[in-house]
Amino acid sequence: MNQGTNIDLAVEELRKGNLVALPTETVYGLAANATDEQSVTKIFAAKRRPFFDPLIVHFKDVESILPFVESIPEVAYSLFAKFSPGPLTLLLQKNDRIPGIVTSGLSSVAVRIPNHPDFQRVLHHLDFPLAAPSANVFGYISPTEPAHVVKQFGDEVAYVLDGGRCEFGLESTIVDCTLEPVRILRKGAITAEMLAEVLDYTPEEAKVSSSQPTAPGNIDVHYAPKKPLYVVDAKDLIEPLPANSAVMTFGKTPKVPGVFYADLSPSAELFEAAAAFFRTLHQLDEMPSVRQIYTTWFPEQGLGKALNDKLRRAKSSI
Ligand code: TXA
Ligand code: MG
Repeated sequence: MNQGTNIDLAVEELRKGNLVALPTETVYGLAANATDEQSVTKIFAAKRRPFFDPLIVHFKDVESILPFVESIPEVAYSLFAKFSPGPLTLLLQKNDRIPGIVTSGLSSVAVRIPNHPDFQRVLHHLDFPLAAPSANVFGYISPTEPAHVVKQFGDEVAYVLDGGRCEFGLESTIVDCTLEPVRILRKGAITAEMLAEVLDYTPEEAKVSSSQPTAPGNIDVHYAPKKPLYVVDAKDLIEPLPANSAVMTFGKTPKVPGVFYADLSPSAELFEAAAAFFRTLHQLDEMPSVRQIYTTWFPEQGLGKALNDKLRRAKSSI
């Protein structure tokens, strides 16, 4: 697999129908031509992703979405106007220019306008949109830097475009705009409170389970390290922990000897913690001296809700 900063090479591989990992402001995406069934099939194969889990399609701007959907409702225009380009994905009714494989046969398509300059550059060179799920093997920790992609994929990925570390480090918020009132399908950097400023109401967060295949990022086991990850109460962290434990902390935490600590945000900033979250899990999963990882729940507000959601799916049961 090739890795570098060559935009032209990335564009060329995508035109050939190959897979290219691209940086976004949220996580790295594994991109392919969204209008070409064969290219899209390669994404599912490389990720070992079940075909019932639909993909997000990335566009350079709102105008370029129009030819691929039945319509863009007023509410979607308002949300795009406020938050795009940026970490927001909207569900709209698709038309037949989006192949069924992209949406797992659903009549809606998830669309997003990413805000990373390299991704934007690539899109500006192409005359088709890009389907791109997070560039991780299905169920594993999401990638927030090129090395995370490289360690998971072999030659199935033609090129990894290095755009540095992802700014947000958590996947986009997904909002279903095929319904009125709209609903949040996946919590992310754009919180319900932020959406409420545009909508004049606070959107409901859909409760979805793994038995519903349309559930975005909501399949039960997801984002998980290979090592056990336990979410415990803060008071349990001052008890002796088993040998070779690491603790992922948020804010000031009392420390005991013999434990490896990874501080997500010593000053307890959720934004900073989110940016470091997947990177830290990758790092701890790689460390030979660490056998199990402990952490605590984040405050259940704003970005903390999205982080807790990831923890709920990534954690092992005690
Ligand atoms: O931040 C992001 O959104 C990243 C970057 C690469 O853009 N992408 C991402 O894609 O997180 P992925 O495939 O890992 O997660 C997309 C989620 C899936 O869990 C899928 O179930 C949901 O979006 N989704 C896609 N299309 C959908 C649809 N038509 N209806 C319901 N859910 C959909
Ligand atoms: Mg994903």
